[in-house]
Amino acid sequence: MTVSMLEAASPALDLERIRADFPILDQEVNGHRLVYLDNAASTQKPAAVIETIDRYYRRDNANVHRGVHELSHRATEAYEQARGKVARLLGIGDEAELIWTKGTTEAINLVARTWGEANIRAGDEILLSVLEHHSNLVPWQLLAQRTGARLRFLDLDDQGRLELSRVDDLLTERTKLVSISHISNALGTINPVSHIAEMAHAVGAVMLVDGAQSAPHLPVDVPSLGADFYAFSGHKMCGPTGIGGLWGRRALLEAMPPFHGGGDMIDYVELESSTYAPLPLKFEAGTPHIAGAIGLGAAADYLASVGRDNILAHERHLMAYALERMAEIPDLVLHGPRDPAERSGVVSFTLADVHPHDIATILDGEGIAVRAGHHCCQPLMRRLCVPATARASFYLYTGTDDVDRLVDGLMKARTMFGL
Ligand SMILES: Cc1ncc(COP(=O)(O)O)c(C=O)c1O
Repeated sequence: MTVSMLEAASPALDLERIRADFPILDQEVNGHRLVYLDNAASTQKPAAVIETIDRYYRRDNANVHRGVHELSHRATEAYEQARGKVARLLGIGDEAELIWTKGTTEAINLVARTWGEANIRAGDEILLSVLEHHSNLVPWQLLAQRTGARLRFLDLDDQGRLELSRVDDLLTERTKLVSISHISNALGTINPVSHIAEMAHAVGAVMLVDGAQSAPHLPVDVPSLGADFYAFSGHKMCGPTGIGGLWGRRALLEAMPPFHGGGDMIDYVELESSTYAPLPLKFEAGTPHIAGAIGLGAAADYLASVGRDNILAHERHLMAYALERMAEIPDLVLHGPRDPAERSGVVSFTLADVHPHDIATILDGEGIAVRAGHHCCQPLMRRLCVPATARASFYLYTGTDDVDRLVDGLMKARTMFGL
């Protein structure tokens, strides 16, 4: 497809209307309209989410589950309704299988500490990949150090795609767990997690999907991915920070020991021992992030009203446009799959030997927010033989005009660095 054909293609979203939903986008940064391209790190929030949180604190704020008074009833109802909204968005039929966590990191740590310590023994193997976020590496390193298990890694091909031909060699009867990201936050690669889950199950292993980047961007129906656990973060899907979730199959969750001990997660407490609450409360000790959960419920409503199919179609169109436009920039190296259908809205790049932090600083001067660094994927950077990359990441409010601004900014960076 040529750039002009792409521009003419009818967008899946009414961009003007969508942008009007996000108050933060209506501002200038360094004298230019803000172009926010750091969505893989955190997304912006629509007014509906901001107003829901504001209303909660103004009218309904109280602790949940324990009170008999009106405000506590209201808070509890809104908090549990939010669980239902997020569950519906993600296709989770049994709401008790959705546990609130602080986000993806805490969800993965929960599985490593509880399922992991109950099931992993010395000599067992855990299969990961070299493109994982530190959140999907370090908890397993800690588990391996505690138990004597061995970590193994799927490698990448030259386009940043998992080398699936090696899975057969790496999966053995010793493999107890496979944990892979659905979408790479650093390269945008969409990994075939359902296929990997099938292969993991064939050797009796349990499969965790790090969904931090897929819940916001793909119309994921979590249980039908075929995995056993799925972790996600609210702040990457239009919701607040400090809230996210873990989905797990009921039988696994019920068999797992609790994560944190404290209020709300108990049934009957004696001085020396306790029995625990049923799911999901067994894993939700202490006063939860009530406003966060309610805000994430509003974000789920918002994403459902826009339609994640539409978001995906919009981002595919944008990615094809961005890959074509950025290929015009001399000295720019694009990392990740070349086929837009194999990647989500993330473009990682380097520009000759200019340090990515310098690129990001020049772009910031133009009002364009991108991220530069290792993106919490230091092993991946070493695998790509780069110290860091610059990364532009898109979402539903990103348009081809934003991509044009990025390309203009990069052209300016070339001139400034004498390229
Ligand atoms: C693929 C992936 N996994 C895990 C995380 C960690 O998410 P959080 O910091 O919200 O826990 C991120 C965040 O960037 C991510 O992109």
